[in-house]
Amino acid sequence: MQDIIEQLEQKRAAARLGGGQKRIDAQHAKGKLTARERIEVLLDEGTFEEWDMFVEHRCTDFGMADNKIPGDGVVTGYGMINGRLVFVYSQDFTVYGGALSETHAEKICKVMDQAMKVGAPVIGLNDSGGARIQEGVASLGGYAEVFQRNVMASGVVPQISMIMGPSAGGAVYSPALTDFIFMVKDTSYMFVTGPDVVKTVTHEEVTAEELGGAVTHTTKSGVADMAFENDVEALLMLRRLYNYLPLNNKEKAPVRKSGDPTDRMDMSLDTLVPENPNKAYDMKELILKTVDDGDFFELQPDYAKNILIGFARVDGQTVGIVANQPLVLAGCLDIKSSIKAARFVRFCDAFNIPVITFVDVPGFMPGTSQEYGGIIKHGAKLLYAYAECTVPKITVITRKAYGGAYDVMASKHLRGDVNFSWPNAEIAVMGAKGAVEIIFREDKGDPEKLAAKEAEYKARFANPFVAGARGFIDDVIQPHETRKRIARSLVMLKDKKIENPWRKHGNIPL
Ligand code: COA
Repeated sequence: MQDIIEQLEQKRAAARLGGGQKRIDAQHAKGKLTARERIEVLLDEGTFEEWDMFVEHRCTDFGMADNKIPGDGVVTGYGMINGRLVFVYSQDFTVYGGALSETHAEKICKVMDQAMKVGAPVIGLNDSGGARIQEGVASLGGYAEVFQRNVMASGVVPQISMIMGPSAGGAVYSPALTDFIFMVKDTSYMFVTGPDVVKTVTHEEVTAEELGGAVTHTTKSGVADMAFENDVEALLMLRRLYNYLPLNNKEKAPVRKSGDPTDRMDMSLDTLVPENPNKAYDMKELILKTVDDGDFFELQPDYAKNILIGFARVDGQTVGIVANQPLVLAGCLDIKSSIKAARFVRFCDAFNIPVITFVDVPGFMPGTSQEYGGIIKHGAKLLYAYAECTVPKITVITRKAYGGAYDVMASKHLRGDVNFSWPNAEIAVMGAKGAVEIIFREDKGDPEKLAAKEAEYKARFANPFVAGARGFIDDVIQPHETRKRIARSLVMLKDKKIENPWRKHGNIPL
């Protein structure tokens, strides 16, 4: 018996060594942790239950029959993050560059299947040279098996991808199907085809970092949600994010009460919005002063900055925040910001997270680049997302809510549950100046008359009371009481239940 136990320990030790000490050292020299070290940082200490440590590839071509490495390049299993269950796979770059073989894929599929059975999220730590080249189509089949599971799990359990090394070719599409993608600066990159292929096909000279590094994907493409400085920071932030999420689509997110009183008033909010309606202010200030302890987990902070999205808590309950940002493009909705917010609203809706929307929007961004880029279709994504959303929806209009953008931003007409406005709000088809220039075009040469008409239009429409008179706004509130009013609304909406009509699925404008 003792022999067998020793043999087991030897086998385990061999598996833990992955591709060998030399390659582990090389991984460390690049500033990267190994697959197992990453799991240790991510999970609560001592909670990791590893599966399939002894799985080996089945490939016999190119001398592979004699080159089997136990575990086959991916560490899989489950554990806890702050006491809550999570399934995890972590690709081991020291084993064939973390390349995905048929058995490597089977290991990932096994944890995904189990996560679906018990209703718990899946976190993938990606560090892989792509399809295992020696295996050909067997490895491509493996990818597709993972993709199919990603799609089936979408909206059922949260799926999170952390890119911690290469992710190229087919490897990008599993992360792309998950709810969130995070990257590590300088050591991770994602692209469908690498710099060499790009050069051959398009004659563009571009480095891997420029083409698909963390900065590129968090500022230009919007593929990734956030970028972190190093592996440790990335994994610790992932633990923070995890605390905001429910385990699955039938549960609610965990409540984490703070000492921050829900009736806390913030008098400084009364002067947040400048007198001059064309002057910008920072909407983030309102978010920070409204949520528990000023703690806002912002997603995509460097992409489409004209809209803010992220998680926070009110009275300990997770909420999703969507807010126009007047500091950038005057808070206009454009293609990028519509897509950014739409996807976030759909995540919140799928996972029972109430959505709080702060509105200061002068409309959709005009121009040929927007129209040619399909703003009609992409703007409709946000409209669709809010309209189908059945979780509690609370809206606060802080200043402008003009035109179609008024409708889109969680208006009463899109089943907003509680719609507040601040007293200075302007809820109208457009600003007074633009409106008067159109309806009194014949007075173009008479600035005095136009100014009088503008003042009249302003007095008549640039306020929240026209909307209030129709019940489109439930109440006009003082800015300083925003937190209290939102907190009370959330209590009222705690057991909200509405259902959309049965259908196979809707047809969101893609
Ligand atoms: N299949 C099999 N083995 C692979 C692999 C793959 N897709 N990608 C990398 N490896 C192996 C390498 O042969 C090397 O093995 P070794 O340690 O025995 O020498 C090891 O993984 C590390 O790769 P290396 O190229 O030395 O690392 P790097 O950091 O310099 O470069 C990549 C990493 C991913 C850029 C590079 O390995 C690469 O271009 N791989 C191929 C990517 C690809 O085209 N994949 C298929 C398309 S999906």
